Amino acid sequence: MTIHESVIITSPEWMRRFVAARRAEGRRIAFVPTMGYLHEGHLSLVEKASELADCVIVSIFVNPMQFGPNEDLDRYPRDLDGDLQKLSGYPVQAVFCPAATDLYPAGFQTSIHVERVSAPLCGAARPGHFTGVATIVLKLFNILRPDIAVFGLKDYQQFQVIRTMVKDLDVPVEIVGCEIVRETDGLARSSRNVFLTPDQRAAAVILHRTLEDAATWISTGRLVRASEVELFLSERIAAEPQARIDYVSCRDAASLEAIDVLDSPVVLAVAVFFGRTRLIDNRVISV
Ligand code: PAF
Repeated sequence: MTIHESVIITSPEWMRRFVAARRAEGRRIAFVPTMGYLHEGHLSLVEKASELADCVIVSIFVNPMQFGPNEDLDRYPRDLDGDLQKLSGYPVQAVFCPAATDLYPAGFQTSIHVERVSAPLCGAARPGHFTGVATIVLKLFNILRPDIAVFGLKDYQQFQVIRTMVKDLDVPVEIVGCEIVRETDGLARSSRNVFLTPDQRAAAVILHRTLEDAATWISTGRLVRASEVELFLSERIAAEPQARIDYVSCRDAASLEAIDVLDSPVVLAVAVFFGRTRLIDNRVISV
């Protein structure tokens, strides 16, 4: 494996200068925003970014604004040394690791609220979450001015929120989505998987299995309405004793609006607690 050396930058001002210098060299910049504790899912985004551009920048910043007061900001896993080690296997030119006080200095008071697409699903379960996400992502875009930004589709609603923000505010960046990376048994890779006990980890495979079964039932015409899909998802997942459902939903794949009959692409989205750990997963189906 080739070991690549990245510049580690903590100051937004130095980050701006670094990007300006790369632009002056005529480089195309691809950006992968992350909250660290990198796994294969993140690394697939970095790989995609390196296929699309000749300067890849990764940010590592656990964004306090997207965590609610009773959420897991303090226990969110962090391992900067491990992350840098993992990134050294990829052609990443810079890793941006700002301090919260640099991005949210005293007096900070502006936020970006993307209305309808933020409202259901995780937006309803985690009030303010997507305002925090949209605000930090726009700030990072303004600091880095990337040509391309790469996001994972496990956070499907986040992807649609960011796409909507970029379109509505004419942000000059191309948003690219990457398929969910899964463990061999189908569990979606997530930084939060580390919190699962062995029993919870074994039980969590129910999410992927149920989504796949629902996809089969839809494609064979056994589920034709969103309400039937939601009942199917909730009954199957609730049968797993370790699982506590936060939401299950079947919605229009682009707008995330509620639907009745499945007659255009849909997303099946689930959020389920295993102990204190909340996992999300989804399946897009082109009906
Ligand atoms: O998906 C994430 O890790 C975060 O929500 C993001 C996009 C880096 C913003 O903090």
